[in-house]
Amino acid sequence: MQPTSILSNEHRVIEIMLSVLENLADKTIAEKKLERQAAEEVIDFIRNFADRCHHGKEENHLFVALVDKGMPKEGGPIGQMLLEHDQGREYVRGMANNIDAAEKGNEKSIREFVGNAFGYVELLRSHIHKEDNILFPMAERFLDENDKTNLLGKFEKVESEHMGYGIHDKYMKIAENLARSFNVPFHNPKNMACGHARK
Ligand SMILES: [Fe+2]
Ligand SMILES: [Fe+2]
Repeated sequence: MQPTSILSNEHRVIEIMLSVLENLADKTIAEKKLERQAAEEVIDFIRNFADRCHHGKEENHLFVALVDKGMPKEGGPIGQMLLEHDQGREYVRGMANNIDAAEKGNEKSIREFVGNAFGYVELLRSHIHKEDNILFPMAERFLDENDKTNLLGKFEKVESEHMGYGIHDKYMKIAENLARSFNVPFHNPKNMACGHARK
């Protein structure tokens, strides 16, 4: 198993949640109010599964290993990916800050929530595309077998020490339930680090 294959598998679950978020935003426009519980669950998933776990593994481990191998941290693809992670966090803050008023039907807050939601969906889809098709193939060439084994060990540690295995079952369940509620096909990829169903 390649470390980047684990990250790509995690992208597939994140993409399911992007479609959920897109449908939630459409529904918010149609109903002129936000469904609070769904919004909170999507944001919880994004903050913990997508950002803390998945982006954490990229930023703290994969990108660090690539910089060690001579890939520039600034200016190149890594700099761009880091910038996009930060832009994503801004969009998520923009959504979270508007949940209360958007639930009550406040027009400005609905516009803010929906604008940030669509911005996040567009950003992350293109971000994931760039990682899967440009950065990860580059990483495969930069890293030798030893680096890859080290990375797999570090991903495992993120799971066991920083996240806790039970947490992942929780996020897979959230993703599955939201996908059902928002008519998004759900498929649980095997071989993820974030999302590892282990007790
Ligand atoms: Fe990323
Ligand atoms: Fe990623």
